[in-house]
Amino acid sequence: MSTEVKSEVLKVLEDRHSVKQYQAGHKMPKADLEQLLTSTSQAPSSWNLQHWKLLVIEDQAQKEKLHPIAYGQKQIVESSVVIAILGDLEANKNTELVFGPAVEAGHMSKELYDTLAAQIEGAYQYPQVARDEAIRNASLAAMQLMIAAKALGYDTCPMGGYDAAKFVEAFNVPARYVPVMLISVGLAATPARSAGRFSLDQITVSNTF
Ligand SMILES: Cc1cc2nc3c(=O)[nH]c(=O)nc-3n(C[C@H](O)[C@H](O)[C@H](O)COP(=O)(O)O)c2cc1C
Repeated sequence: MSTEVKSEVLKVLEDRHSVKQYQAGHKMPKADLEQLLTSTSQAPSSWNLQHWKLLVIEDQAQKEKLHPIAYGQKQIVESSVVIAILGDLEANKNTELVFGPAVEAGHMSKELYDTLAAQIEGAYQYPQVARDEAIRNASLAAMQLMIAAKALGYDTCPMGGYDAAKFVEAFNVPARYVPVMLISVGLAATPARSAGRFSLDQITVSNTF
């Protein structure tokens, strides 16, 4: 990676802040939305099972429905699109979809496939593992989405402030998926204030506790 590209990536990371005021009424062009979702889908995941489902809420009436569920946070109705990041509690069901084509193409042996599939099924016997994996991997997609949005000229706000049970009911979310967070995406009306961070001394431990 060239130094120039590297510094651009670091600038995007530095410039991302949670924006709560958007240019209301802006509609995101389809090409931008597709790029955003494609970049999001490139996030890494355990066994590449891609434990996420992205509920893309662009319709203003649907955003109005979500508004009270998200405790009246105005970024829900003023941003261009709200993306609900859902974690897949049954990502083990993706094994065949993910690895089947590699076996068929001869890139993966049937033995290796069977070993992987047994490993995955073993792990997914435990509901806590399934839930941890869903939230962990979908959270990586969420972060990737926010960075990609910034690189495309948009701002975002991740939101955990909503009633998950009401959200599931109102948007008919199947039991297979656990809501992880909502992310508003749009054009900033007012730049966000930069939130402080702990110093490296405060957040790091060298080698061992
Ligand atoms: C999981 C999660 C949930 C959050 N929930 C909300 C929320 O409901 N409403 C809100 O305005 N900001 C929310 N935030 C934004 C945080 O307040 C913000 O990320 C933090 O203050 C750091 O600021 P920055 O994102 O601008 O760097 C949330 C952030 C995360 C990661």
